[in-house]
Amino acid sequence: MFNPYFLVVFLYIALAVLGALDASLINFELLPGFVGLRWMRVHFITLGALTEFAFGILPVLVAARVGVPRPKIRWDIWLTLNLGLLILLMGIPPINAALITTGGTLIFIAATLLMIQLGKMRATDTAQKSEGRKFYLVGLAYLLLGILVGTGLWQGWSTWLQIKVPIEVHIHANNWGFMSLVFAGLLVDLYPSFAGRSLAWPRSITPIFWMMTIGALGLVLGPWFQSNLFSVPGLILHLSATIWLLLNVIKPLVGDRQLRTPGMLHLITAYAWILAPVLVAPLIILQVSGFPGAGIEQNAPQALIYGWVLQFGYAMIPLLFRRIFLPDTPSKLGGNWFSLIAVHLGGIFLWVGIFLHEQQATLHGVAYGLWFVSMLPIAYELWQIVHNGINNLQDKNVVPIAAESGD
Ligand code: HEM
Repeated sequence: MFNPYFLVVFLYIALAVLGALDASLINFELLPGFVGLRWMRVHFITLGALTEFAFGILPVLVAARVGVPRPKIRWDIWLTLNLGLLILLMGIPPINAALITTGGTLIFIAATLLMIQLGKMRATDTAQKSEGRKFYLVGLAYLLLGILVGTGLWQGWSTWLQIKVPIEVHIHANNWGFMSLVFAGLLVDLYPSFAGRSLAWPRSITPIFWMMTIGALGLVLGPWFQSNLFSVPGLILHLSATIWLLLNVIKPLVGDRQLRTPGMLHLITAYAWILAPVLVAPLIILQVSGFPGAGIEQNAPQALIYGWVLQFGYAMIPLLFRRIFLPDTPSKLGGNWFSLIAVHLGGIFLWVGIFLHEQQATLHGVAYGLWFVSMLPIAYELWQIVHNGINNLQDKNVVPIAAESGD
């Protein structure tokens, strides 16, 4: 089935590839910096690739799980999301308030419409249900909050919303709320198909869902009120839920070759890059002298986006592209050894650069260079899937035409 979101995902991954190359060349001073590109680099991945991907796959996935017919593509949602994104891409570099508000509002509307669509998909047979659906719905609710704060970030909205550290509220709502919950839902819904077995403790899914939901709330309210009374319990809850979910994924595969495939390792080890900022967080909170707290706050989000968000996508996006474009081929996660090693080395170089201030530009140049090359096999894999899928479709169309002309 033609799914226009997936072509856009491919387009933004191509832009993300160029964005990483550009960041690498800027660090090596081979290219001049361009205001606004920092925003684009992160949002090509978060909004352009992953949000777009989520919008494309969630209705199809939930419908399949609850046993209702595959929904027709909702062009209204596709158009509002993509118009919003294009308007933001125009509005963010010059910080044009009217364009940013319009773009943010359109994406907000698109997310609301998607929530309504998913909310209405109910199983007719009680035996069939999408365990992931509740994760997707709450994830999207956090996206709405993230959009609201993000859209108002440079427009003073945080003052009337009384947000103390708005950028962190934006990042936390989107990462710990939206991305974490959607990723968890995808793992829960898709693990049996790509791993060929069920999660270790299927009954743990509901407590994991609540721990993540409440944990993310604590992590959003923490910077909102600048209070560790929310952040610390939020972090503990969220992190414990994530570890519990990962154990659910890893335990059934212990001793199996599947655990050592690049795709599975991409999926699991991506989570190491969530742990990195968490491990240094106490040192920032305690303001340990000589510790580069400001450098971490400035650069850690990038490592999180490339190391975790994008890397999760390396495994998951090709899997679901295959499902849509090549439904007759076996379920297989994306990535190879090269992409796996390069993406992790990129994260290591970025973090080392934060601590070695003198060599920071070079180390960060190498980090983005590594992220750039790590994306190439994925972009190529996606291109091949789309290409073969379209060829198959054309072959199918040729048969009736050939038959007609033979009459
Ligand atoms: C309508 C949607 C969105 C708008 C209007 C928006 C807006 C913004 C703005 C204005 C910034 C500040 C950039 C800076 O200080 O240089 C920002 C940063 C950021 N946003 Fe968004 N954003 C949106 C969606 C998202 C989503 C969906 C995610 C993640 C899933 C996300 C993740 C981030 C991250 C990680 C940063 C920090 C980037 C850095 O430090 O370089 N945003 N966003």
